This record gives sequence, structure tokens and C-alpha cells, in this order.
Amino acid sequence: MKGIILSGGQGSRLNPLTKVTSKQLLPVYNKPMIFYPLETLLKAGIKDILLIVAPEHSDDYLKLLGSGAEFGARFAYEIQDKPEGLAQAFVIGANFIGQDNVCMILGDNIFDHDFTRAIQNFKKGAQIFAKQVADPERSGVVQFNEQMQAVKIVEKPKEFLSAYAITGLYLYDSRVVEVARQVKPSARGEMEITDLHNWYLEKGELQVDVIEGQWLDAGTFESLFEAGEYARKKANAIKN
Ligand code: DAU
Repeated sequence: MKGIILSGGQGSRLNPLTKVTSKQLLPVYNKPMIFYPLETLLKAGIKDILLIVAPEHSDDYLKLLGSGAEFGARFAYEIQDKPEGLAQAFVIGANFIGQDNVCMILGDNIFDHDFTRAIQNFKKGAQIFAKQVADPERSGVVQFNEQMQAVKIVEKPKEFLSAYAITGLYLYDSRVVEVARQVKPSARGEMEITDLHNWYLEKGELQVDVIEGQWLDAGTFESLFEAGEYARKKANAIKN
């Protein structure tokens, strides 16, 4: 299983914090934000990790993370020239993925959930993780039937669909590269990750697991602040 951390984008919702640095390098308590998703992958045994970053911040990422040796891993880097959508990561990462399965995590997603078992048991198709939230309209949303099978996936639905948000960690087989190459930009001009999920869903090859525990997408002032507070409490609980 290869790993990708998608860490590009402009972080415009966090202006002016992101005027001179990348959102995913901002501090979340005592570490840069990207350390949290990185640790999620490392903990699950993923050692080959591609970092996809914006051109203006690539030198900072290299300085911070280097070859990966310090983390007992191997890091590769690719540039995403423009934030043209999450699904573009698999076009950019095609050579890196090759014939392997891949786990992608978003550089601003912080989880208190252990994905080790899911990652190590993953064989084929796609697997995503949903969590019940109060504000599903901020995310991709999945609707389940009575047997808790996924029936519909919509990116940021305008009408209430369900309270299950799709979190930013995804598992795919290597077919994801070809599927991503076919994705057309949406009305907001992005290659939507939801299109990949719908492709696997239509084939009956999408597994959706519901997770418990904290999940934070630290992309707004509120959630960034909340993430810092959560990380501080967690670090102090470990110390005591
Ligand atoms: O956090 C989970 C949600 O992430 C999912 O529920 C949604 O389905 C998914 O579309 C995404 O929604 P967001 O509105 O949170 O996406 P955002 O544009 O904030 O991008 C998420 C991260 O990916 C962010 O750290 C920036 C990075 N990114 C984003 C885009 C569009 C890139 O590196 N490149 C890109 O082209």
C-alpha cells in the first residue's frame, strides 16, 4: 500500500495566516498540521509516501520533511500547479502508484481513529470512511439504506441528504488512476473525489465504514482552533 498526502491548495479560508505559508504547515498545538495525517499513515505501516504540494511552498516541505529517513519512511514529492481538485492527485501520482493500492489522506485532516486494520486488510475496490456530524453540508455526504449500505454520494449537498460526512482518508486499488483521468471538472471547476466514489459505487465495489472518535478538518479558523485545543488535551493526557 502506497500513501499520498494531498497538501496543496491555497488555504484561502485562513487568510492572512496562509499569505506566506501553506495551510498544512500551520501549527496545531506543538506540531505542523501535516504531522497529524503523516502519523496516521506511518502508524498504519505505510512507508512509501508521496507529498503533493503547491509550487510556492515546495521548498518548505522539503526542509521540514526531507527524505523521510527521520520518520523511518521514504518520501517523494510532486507539485500540483493549481488546486484543480482532489481527484487530480491520482493523475499527478500515477507513476508513484504504479500497480499498487493507495491510501490518500488530506493534509488538513486530523483523526483520532486507528486505520491500521482497514489499511492492512484492504485488497480491491475502494473503501472510504464516514462520520456522523452536525454540519454535513461542509463535506461530501453519503446516504445509507436500512442495511447501512451506501446508496448515494453527493459533494456538499444543498438539501439535507444524511448526517454522514465522508472524511479525508480514502483507499483505492490502482484502477483509481484510470478513473481519475476520465473525471471532468465540476461546475466549481474541480476534479471531484466524489466522482471516483460514484464510479466504484456503481460497480458495487465501494465499501463505506462508519468511524467514531474525533475527526477534524482544520481548514477554517474555528476548526483550526478546535484542532489545537484537541491536540493539546491529547498531548497532556499522554504526558500525565
Ligand atoms: O475533509 C473532507 C472533505 O474534503 C470531503 O468530505 C469532501 O468530499 C472533499 O471534497 C473535501 O472537501 P473540502 O471542502 O474540505 O476540500 P478542500 O478544498 O478544503 O480541500 C481539502 C484539502 O486538500 C485541503 O487541505 C487542500 C487540499 N487540496 C484541495 C484541492 C481542491 C489540494 O491539495 N489540491 C486541490 O486541488
